[in-house]
Amino acid sequence: MSTKTYQIALIGGDGTGPEVAAEGVKVAQAAAAKFGFKLVFTPYDFGAERYLRTGETLPDSAVEEMKKYQSIYLGAIGHPDVKPGILELGILLKMRFALDQYINHRPVKLFPGVETPLKGKGPEDIDFVVVRENSGGIYTGLGGATRVGTSEEIATQVMVYDRRTVERCLRYAFELKRRRNAANPRYAAKPITLVHKRNVLTHCGDLWFRAFEELGAAEYPEIARDYNHVDAANMWFVKNPEWFDVVVTENLFGDIITDLGAMIQGGLGVAAGGNINPTGISMFEPMGGSAPKYQGKDVINPIAAIGAAGMMLDTLGERAAAAAIERAIMETTPKMKSQAAGRMGFGTREVGDLVASAV
Ligand code: IPM
Ligand code: MN
Repeated sequence: MSTKTYQIALIGGDGTGPEVAAEGVKVAQAAAAKFGFKLVFTPYDFGAERYLRTGETLPDSAVEEMKKYQSIYLGAIGHPDVKPGILELGILLKMRFALDQYINHRPVKLFPGVETPLKGKGPEDIDFVVVRENSGGIYTGLGGATRVGTSEEIATQVMVYDRRTVERCLRYAFELKRRRNAANPRYAAKPITLVHKRNVLTHCGDLWFRAFEELGAAEYPEIARDYNHVDAANMWFVKNPEWFDVVVTENLFGDIITDLGAMIQGGLGVAAGGNINPTGISMFEPMGGSAPKYQGKDVINPIAAIGAAGMMLDTLGERAAAAAIERAIMETTPKMKSQAAGRMGFGTREVGDLVASAV
């Protein structure tokens, strides 16, 4: 039997991106060796340096080239010399939209030994997933400005959703909830939660709410449904995170609540995410940025990047390897002094070694 081989595009990116990505690759390769498949990483240099050198962010031909791969693995993008927005729009958002990565899957899980700012909460309380819609809403860029620079300046940025876009996101969330319920009775005891702002956003909120209720009742009747306004959800994330299991929401709300989620799970050093096209090419990344001030110092935390590599294997169908990586992370975090850069008690590479050998 020939060994199953996965072709992965590797975008290390800027700042500490390549350092954390290297540790993710190391751990993924350890899992591949153990579980009998092959990973081939092909590096690409998209990011600030290439942009500053050539003026190019992510050319259309590169998007086409990405389609040859089974997945994309990204370190981080961003540089103090590049105006905010250029790389974010030109690389990250372009990739999400061009490859229709319509789900942003962001686990909020407090690993053992990791400190949360929430008093009295532990790993059994903070263990949920935010399913953020990743293709629509305000991020579509619809809108405009006029009379710019005058006292009558007007600007609009429109929240755009259609039933298909809403439904495909909800379906992903319900399917995830079904899998989690089957895996763990603690998850099964909780509802799936829709987060929106339907008391004010009466059009988009109503579209999401009806789609949620109708799809849930018709196809996932065994799953209990709950709804929170986004402002209230923020409050409950802090006060009662144990209420949540799968949280599904639109794009901008998801962006905002997942930064809060990252903090309650111990910070950006541990928060991983996947930009997922369930039938296409997905892209996995740590949620943190490129942290230029730590570049080259071997002090940045690679746990988030390693977690993202695990999510990638899970999405590729290598469930056992992904589970082994998560277990290995959970064996490693208790040995670390802190999840903050420079205070881990280990270097970046040592943390990668610890997780790899635990796999
Ligand atoms: C994120 C980031 C991006 C977003 C930015 C960098 C475009 O904040 O991945 O959450 O808003 O989606
Ligand atoms: Mn964000």
